[in-house]
Amino acid sequence: MCGIIGYVGNRQGMPLALDALRRMEYRGYDSAGIAVADNHQINSVKRAGKLRNLEDRIAEIGEENFHGSTAIGHTRWATHGRPTNENAHPHMSFDGKVAIVHNGIIENFAPLREELQRKGIEMMSETDSEVAAHLLALAYQEGETAGNFQASALAVLNRLEGAFTLLFMHADHPDQIIAGRRSTPLIVGVGDNEMFLGSDVAAFIEYTKNAVELGQDNVVVLRQHDFEILNFDGSPAQGRAFTIDWDLAAAEKGGFDSFMLKEIHEQPAAVRDTLAGHYHNGRVTLDEQNLSDEDLKYIDQVFVVACGSAYHSGLLAKYAIEHWVRIPVQIEVASEFRYRDPVLDERTLVLAISQSGETADTLEAVRHAKSQGAKVLAVCNTNGSQIPRESDAVLYTHAGPEIGVASTKAFLAQVAANYIVGLALAQAKGTKYPDEIAEIYRSLEEIPAKIESLLACEDQVTDIAQLLGAVRTMLFLGRGVGYPVALEGALKLKELAYIHAEGFPAGELKHGPIALIEDDLPVVVVVPSPRGVTLLHSKIVSNIQEIRARGAKTIVIAEEGDTAVEPYANWLIRIPETPSMMQPLLATVPLQFLAAEIARQCGNEDIDKPRNLAKSVTVE
Ligand code: F6R
Repeated sequence: MCGIIGYVGNRQGMPLALDALRRMEYRGYDSAGIAVADNHQINSVKRAGKLRNLEDRIAEIGEENFHGSTAIGHTRWATHGRPTNENAHPHMSFDGKVAIVHNGIIENFAPLREELQRKGIEMMSETDSEVAAHLLALAYQEGETAGNFQASALAVLNRLEGAFTLLFMHADHPDQIIAGRRSTPLIVGVGDNEMFLGSDVAAFIEYTKNAVELGQDNVVVLRQHDFEILNFDGSPAQGRAFTIDWDLAAAEKGGFDSFMLKEIHEQPAAVRDTLAGHYHNGRVTLDEQNLSDEDLKYIDQVFVVACGSAYHSGLLAKYAIEHWVRIPVQIEVASEFRYRDPVLDERTLVLAISQSGETADTLEAVRHAKSQGAKVLAVCNTNGSQIPRESDAVLYTHAGPEIGVASTKAFLAQVAANYIVGLALAQAKGTKYPDEIAEIYRSLEEIPAKIESLLACEDQVTDIAQLLGAVRTMLFLGRGVGYPVALEGALKLKELAYIHAEGFPAGELKHGPIALIEDDLPVVVVVPSPRGVTLLHSKIVSNIQEIRARGAKTIVIAEEGDTAVEPYANWLIRIPETPSMMQPLLATVPLQFLAAEIARQCGNEDIDKPRNLAKSVTVE
């Protein structure tokens, strides 16, 4: 949830850490802070609110007062303790010698806090994190680990329960940082005479493309010229080296007003890159695969677990897999899954979808599925994150870094990836002929160019949003694969514009929601292709008439050439012709623009960081 940077090198640590926090602010943005070690002293500064407040505070104190080339920094999304200056990280120990930053939750912080208080140590914050700083200072002062930074850090890490990435700095060792991780991410960036730590590669992408991912319960000792990876018991461990294939430009706005608008425009590439390399010589392939064709053939039911937009992409997986593979697919919001005791066995495939790969609800669902003997296949956008690491197989989406908190390009990439999973299953179980699979894959490959042309609807959608004027509530209707699109459109509007919005299956309208329709209520209708199930198309045309008759203003999304809807649309947004199953990859795009523009008109200037939200939600 929080963003972490660590640096040991030859540059000034303060400006470098500030820059890194700027790039990671999307991970959490309710407070931020930095500590710099130099000359056996640690100087630390932190502030509640956006990074701007921290920058102002540093300017007040004077940046020259934070001299030093070993630094740790943190941008926070509050879990334990309100977003205040005191609760911001870094936390210092009672003797002023230790600084720590922490991402995750220390579950046993309450007894540790009591133990420290019994020793007369006064807590300065309401956080679970602070205990780690005091414990380290104590371990370094007394007992078997006295005077030994590494042994003290290991001793502390071994006492903690929960999920955490912790970076420790000690004034007596200003040339190193020791960090440990359990169930939350930590990547080492390997530079020339400088080393980095980051919650993700955005922290140090400007300086190096060489990275090493740490395993579960690993510790890293970071120095200017080298680093060492250990297990929590101090024995040597190995990380996984990889080369970062994003560049700095990918992590910046590229001329758009917001990351989100940039990311909407990157959708053709996100879908194209996700599809690339998964179909050759007439066969569909996944990525890291510990599931053989035999395993897939044996599967007789699928469960999809995901949250938010990823869940909406999962609804589309259900439509596709049931249609192509003819096995039952159940879908569950990840936070509900394990508490409901779902019936799983070794013939069940659990499809876990997550952009970040860190979402705690989805991760726990994965763990539950595995404990019940099910096979888990992750669809994920973040290399080296926890969900793919704990799954049997993974299909990476190649959307690149998604900085806007509201998901756009990662969502479309997830839909494309889910369809690849559906085709891999159909292939293994023989429910589609190879030439049918080839044809479906071809129609998927045509999608990026269609999205490209559809991006031109941005101006039209902006005009519509302006003509709508003040909007209090908005409904989104769809049928078949248009229903998840309606849900996604409503979620985007809620998140960005803070307006009440709901998505419904259009056929359900008459069973209740139609009572909401009143004069001038804007209703978006996603119309299925007239070339698909014709009954579905004609049914939705009737639904549009019903709402128009009750005074609603209709914004209709329909395929080029669909003339039947024209008389009932206040505004008509055209999308390119495509097979029905592919339509969500197009119909979602205008709804993303619509939400962004309505948000702008409502005065929400920073659509990249909607209030109360964080990009990756690592608490249940
Ligand atoms: C919505 C949004 C969230 C995420 C959800 C899951 O725009 O971004 O609903 O989709 O929190 O996140 P991941 O995919 O990282 O597991």
